[in-house]
Amino acid sequence: MKRIAILTSGGDAPGMNAAVRAVTRKAIHEGMEVYGINYGYAGLVAGDIRKLDVPDVGDIIQRGGTCLYSARYPEFATEEGQLKGIEQLKKFGIEGLVVIGGDGSYHGALALTKRGFPAVGVPGTIDNDIPATDFTIGFDTAINTVLDAIDRIRDTATSHVRTFIIEVMGRDAGDIALWAGVAGGADDIIIPEHEFDMKQVANKIRQGRDRGKKHCLIILAEGVMSGHDFADQLAEHGDFHARVSVLGHIVRGGSPTARDRVLASKFGGYAVDLLKEGKGGLCVGILNNELVASDIVETLETKKHHPDLSLYDLNHQISF
Ligand code: ADP
Ligand code: F6P
Repeated sequence: MKRIAILTSGGDAPGMNAAVRAVTRKAIHEGMEVYGINYGYAGLVAGDIRKLDVPDVGDIIQRGGTCLYSARYPEFATEEGQLKGIEQLKKFGIEGLVVIGGDGSYHGALALTKRGFPAVGVPGTIDNDIPATDFTIGFDTAINTVLDAIDRIRDTATSHVRTFIIEVMGRDAGDIALWAGVAGGADDIIIPEHEFDMKQVANKIRQGRDRGKKHCLIILAEGVMSGHDFADQLAEHGDFHARVSVLGHIVRGGSPTARDRVLASKFGGYAVDLLKEGKGGLCVGILNNELVASDIVETLETKKHHPDLSLYDLNHQISF
């Protein structure tokens, strides 16, 4: 392929810019032309497409968000939207597309592939909920942001002998809560992929108090219930002076960590290698520290992401 395009879609994630930079620079290095599509699939359908040159992706590796902007654009799930998108790509002479985004964005890439247009998915979401990869771009930054919040909240929890419920993003996935919870020494981690018993949560807090423990930190994934609903249910089992802190979109922004920048650079370079060889219909990932390319149809139709539940068990053994 000689001319490719790139878009970022769905929730922005720190490191997306590093991936845009890597795709653009690697493609130019390989003698290819690169076009940037603004606002994800919305911009694709609208033809909001521009050529990217070396300076266009300068000074962005350290920035959060995405310089190509993003959008939630449900119209791309329709045949009309997809055909219009392919028409725009052909109008610009584009032969292959790199899609950086999460699960929904992958479904857009899958639709293009099924209609005969080669697309390569690059996993970019703070949620880490994509199959065929151990890690997604943005996850490492997100968990470090949550960790910073946990450490700060711990100061107040200890000073006032309070229980804190810290609600974190992750849509339907518990990875952010799980990893940040283990790193932050959380007393309990509540995730959608594992059942919990509120009575046991309350007993654990009580046992800690009886031993003279001052703080209690519970990290709650938003996919289970809201922090306020959790606090109301906990209050039925005793008065723990619980406060709720909802971190929300703070977890999605900020400068990417070194790990996310390196991961994004690897994924971006690899996506270009694949398209250069004429290979589309794939999604890239990292499994056991090896870059892999998986069939996007098979991945989305047969594979599911599962969090590392050994971390959940470990937390119960070491945090009380
Ligand atoms: P994420 O990619 O972060 O999971 P979304 O779920 O919002 O975020 O998906 C991003 C975009 O991908 C959507 O706004 C839509 O344009 C496109 N998309 C989502 N689902 C589909 C689908 N089933 N078919 C085609 N495009 C889709
Ligand atoms: O997928 C990323 C994410 O931040 C989820 O963790 C969260 O549930 C969702 O996006 C929020 O979406 P929005 O920014 O559209 O409200």
